[in-house]
Amino acid sequence: MILLTGATGTVGRLVTRRLSGLVPLRLLTRDPKRAAALAGPQDEVSGGDFDDRPSLDRALTGVRSALLVTANPLAPAHDERFVAAARAAGVRHVVKLSALAVTDPGANDLITTWQRHNEQLLRGSGLLWTLLRPRAFMTNTLGWAPSVREEGVVRAQNGTAANATVDPRDIAEVAVRALLDTDAHAGRAHALTGPEAMSAVRQTEILGEVLHRPLRFVELTEDEARRRLLTRLPGPVADALVESAGRARAGAKARVDPTTAELLGRPAGGYREWARDHLPEFRG
Ligand SMILES: NC(=O)c1ccc[n+]([C@@H]2O[C@H](COP(=O)([O-])OP(=O)(O)OC[C@H]3O[C@@H](n4cnc5c(N)ncnc54)[C@H](OP(=O)(O)O)[C@@H]3O)[C@@H](O)[C@H]2O)c1
Repeated sequence: MILLTGATGTVGRLVTRRLSGLVPLRLLTRDPKRAAALAGPQDEVSGGDFDDRPSLDRALTGVRSALLVTANPLAPAHDERFVAAARAAGVRHVVKLSALAVTDPGANDLITTWQRHNEQLLRGSGLLWTLLRPRAFMTNTLGWAPSVREEGVVRAQNGTAANATVDPRDIAEVAVRALLDTDAHAGRAHALTGPEAMSAVRQTEILGEVLHRPLRFVELTEDEARRRLLTRLPGPVADALVESAGRARAGAKARVDPTTAELLGRPAGGYREWARDHLPEFRG
């Protein structure tokens, strides 16, 4: 049995799609109705919450490998509770969605510090582990979709900073391989980037090309970016994201890593291809 946490999220739902029907699969979610719509007929849906240890114990019963996706940097107990429950349940292998910033000694924002702590926790747990360390997801640019649709405008911070963003479909494919082949992936940390480093200004041009519609890029100041983030995120998380974007300006996120292509046996997916596959969201 494989357990997927974060199964309703960006990466987890792509992993679900790939594993459904292939292996015995269980999805952990706080919202079983929503997850049931993503699950195949053979998959199990387990109602649970990282804040509720008994629900984790139930979800982990009989599980051999698990995908661990936590998303709240203000809740370090989530990883701690899951890893403790996985050990108690006799899980063999945990594949953890982390972040590439953990390898940057200059990155000390709240989110990176939290992910470093999570990695250390898993590495010291006695469980077999694999760490997935992606650069920023290409899907983050879906946040531009409303202003692209309504005004033909993209607004972002650090427009010219290059970032080797990665297609979450590639992350999901690597996750699937790690979950299905513990021997090949245990004890490894995979740096996952796209095939080239690209600025938000260049991504805007590409989006315009695939939409056959010129788009305008408007640079946000740090304060404007923070104010926008605060409409949907707690202050410390918004601050961490602004700090992280500042590191991109200094070139910290531009390195292309060959691991994604090596693991998948094909080039990593690029932004143009991703944008073409997500046109409906930008067209409305
Ligand atoms: N976005 C990026 O650019 C980027 C880059 C590098 C690394 N990362 C890392 O990627 C991870 C996020 O992955 P994602 O974007 O795929 O996730 P996501 O879309 O943000 O979805 C979050 C998932 O977590 C589940 N969840 C939230 N709170 C929970 C709780 N208390 N108990 C159980 N499940 C809970 C949600 O499930 P339910 O609502 O169904 O319960 C949902 O499936 C983070 O660790 C982040 O640091 C992101």
